[in-house]
Amino acid sequence: MATESLLGVSNAFLEIVEQTSRLAPLRKPVLIIGERGTGKELIAHRLHYLSPRWDQSFVTINCATLSESLLETELFGHEAGSFTGAAKRHQGRFERADGGTLFLDELATTSARVQEKLLRVIEYGEFERVGGAKALCVDVRLVCATNEDLPALAERGGFRHDLLDRLAFDVITLPPLRERRDDILLLAEHFAHGMTRELGYDLFAGFSREAKALLHDYDWPGNVRELKNVIERSIYRQANPRLALGELVINPFDSPWRPGARRTASTTGIEPVRGSTGQEADTADTNEAFSISLPTLPCDLKTQVASVEIDLLKQAMRQSQYNQRKAAQLLTLSYHQFRGMLRKYQLLDGDNDPV
Ligand SMILES: Nc1ncnc2c1ncn2[C@@H]1O[C@H](COP(=O)(O)OP(=O)(O)OP(=O)(O)O)[C@@H](O)[C@H]1O
Ligand SMILES: [Mg+2]
Repeated sequence: MATESLLGVSNAFLEIVEQTSRLAPLRKPVLIIGERGTGKELIAHRLHYLSPRWDQSFVTINCATLSESLLETELFGHEAGSFTGAAKRHQGRFERADGGTLFLDELATTSARVQEKLLRVIEYGEFERVGGAKALCVDVRLVCATNEDLPALAERGGFRHDLLDRLAFDVITLPPLRERRDDILLLAEHFAHGMTRELGYDLFAGFSREAKALLHDYDWPGNVRELKNVIERSIYRQANPRLALGELVINPFDSPWRPGARRTASTTGIEPVRGSTGQEADTADTNEAFSISLPTLPCDLKTQVASVEIDLLKQAMRQSQYNQRKAAQLLTLSYHQFRGMLRKYQLLDGDNDPV
């Protein structure tokens, strides 16, 4: 991870890199905020490796993956016999990071008790191991990351204001990929070359014009991680690597046999009936000709019609590889009518249920 390069040419991205380089030499805590997959972990590494602590430890902990008590002992350590099963003394991450950097990922999920202990380490540089009485002193630079809006969380009472004030000497807010579209092709080519090498191919033949347009237009809710996955997946699936890559596999879950698809239809009482040509595996997304058996009456007409509309909107999006203009054409709607429908059913970017 530490050796992975941070790529980008857009102004939004270059400003972040510049801010990171200026913050790196300071001992102050830094908060990194950004949607999933925007590169928070890479930025945390950069802060460490450009600091005078670069030759000391860089210790990471993901706060979301541990229960409250486990997180507490992982961070601060415990004394032997402090709880059942604690046979030996355990050194916490703060001790291990002494002299270096401690990266607390997914900070927003920490409990009030852990937040209180963090506040004390930041304020006085000291803490006790769980079950211990002796105060230990450490010299640790804290870098924290989250995809939550921490000030809003603090307003709702879910995060301590005083801790937030101390952690956020400065905040690096990473732009989502859709806000720096100039970086997409550069990153895509970088990931494509990496995958081509991994597969042992001679060269990467480039992207087709359509693929480039889709890369540029798609909204990338999973940001750079999603882009990396899409490129790598599409390359390994490509039948003839000597040709320019034309087909991007954006959603690996897309399948005629996807359980959710059937469930969505049946929860509304409408059962899709698939044609029985035996061709579905290849053509399901592009040519899904199912007829609809009518629900038994009485039924709520508006709900039933809405559910059919939603299914068709989603199908058109998948079939057009998420190009909204093409999807609109498939439904013989104007682009604006199509966007209006997406809005009506909350299927636009940022809505929970991705089309
Ligand atoms: N600017 C970039 N240049 C090259 N690779 C990048 C860049 N930004 C992100 N990546 C790659 O994208 C992937 C996701 O990055 P990273 O793990 O840092 O994101 P994150 O913001 O920590 O995500 P999450 O919130 O899901 O933990 C990694 O494989 C990383 O190497
Ligand atoms: Mg991360």
